[in-house]
Amino acid sequence: MEGKQCIGILTSGGDAPGMNAAIRAVTRTAIYNGFEVRGIMRGYKGLITDEIIPFQTENVSNIIQQGGTILKTARSEEFRTAEGRKTAYENILKHGITALVVIGGDGSLTGARIFATEYNFPIVGLPGTIDNDLFGTDTTIGYDTALNTIVQSVDKIRDTATSHERIFFIEVMGREAGFLALNGAIASGAEAAIIPEIATEVDQLGEFIQHGFRKSKNSSIVLVAESELTGGAMGLAERVKNEFPQYDVRVTILGHIQRGGSPTATDRILASRMGEAAIYALLEDQRNVMIGIQNDELVYIPFSKAIKNQKPIKHELLNTLKTLSI
Ligand code: F6P
Repeated sequence: MEGKQCIGILTSGGDAPGMNAAIRAVTRTAIYNGFEVRGIMRGYKGLITDEIIPFQTENVSNIIQQGGTILKTARSEEFRTAEGRKTAYENILKHGITALVVIGGDGSLTGARIFATEYNFPIVGLPGTIDNDLFGTDTTIGYDTALNTIVQSVDKIRDTATSHERIFFIEVMGREAGFLALNGAIASGAEAAIIPEIATEVDQLGEFIQHGFRKSKNSSIVLVAESELTGGAMGLAERVKNEFPQYDVRVTILGHIQRGGSPTATDRILASRMGEAAIYALLEDQRNVMIGIQNDELVYIPFSKAIKNQKPIKHELLNTLKTLSI
């Protein structure tokens, strides 16, 4: 990159704890390197509606500990159209923005890829999503906090499950990915996880329930990933109620509680490292890449790879869960 640079930052898609830490890191690293910064409000929507404001170091003071995103976020339908992207590009030129840092999940990075290709514009992405479903990175900003929220919630529900001798189906987020459900189940000592990646688990549920209850257990907790493939917690609970009317079944859908709250130290550090790396990536003339982390090393993953490939779950974790829930 040569000459005076002006970095636009936006957050897009579902908010994730740690996004603010990332905004702070991008802003401060850019200013440290003599760049100007513009905060773009409401994701791609704000690019189109021209909600773009100058950012100084003070704009990102006192936010590292806050959940959500100070830049707000949105899912923009207009940015999916060529006309919407044209208006966005005109606003970028108007504000003298020379590169973009986009913080978001799958959909947000897909938008970034299309725009970057269409206008030959430098964009670096940061994986900001609780779902942990981006290929090429061991983890994403917000995932650790959401996992901890799930574990704290399940710990509480367990008190009721044990006292009333009930089976609880607890639905967690993940948008068709089982990372939160599987690792949440291991961390909370749940009996099983029903995830979209292993659809057969649904059929084994009956066997599992008979099995679990035949042993010493008088209560069970099953984490279910939201997905049509799993049928969700409601669907599964209905099946079990019909097939095993002798059991007392309850459902809890954790919902957006999983997206909120102060980020964990792990997410703050991840976001800070990735935010800093985004600016150094641009300085190295990297474009159309997502910053990922592999074995604690920061890496560049081309958007095409991060978006197109499905991130695999670790199948051995299912065995771990099975073994430990006897
Ligand atoms: O991508 C993050 C996520 O929380 C998914 O896990 C979930 O499916 C989706 O967003 C919910 O989106 P919304 O907040 O728009 O309902």
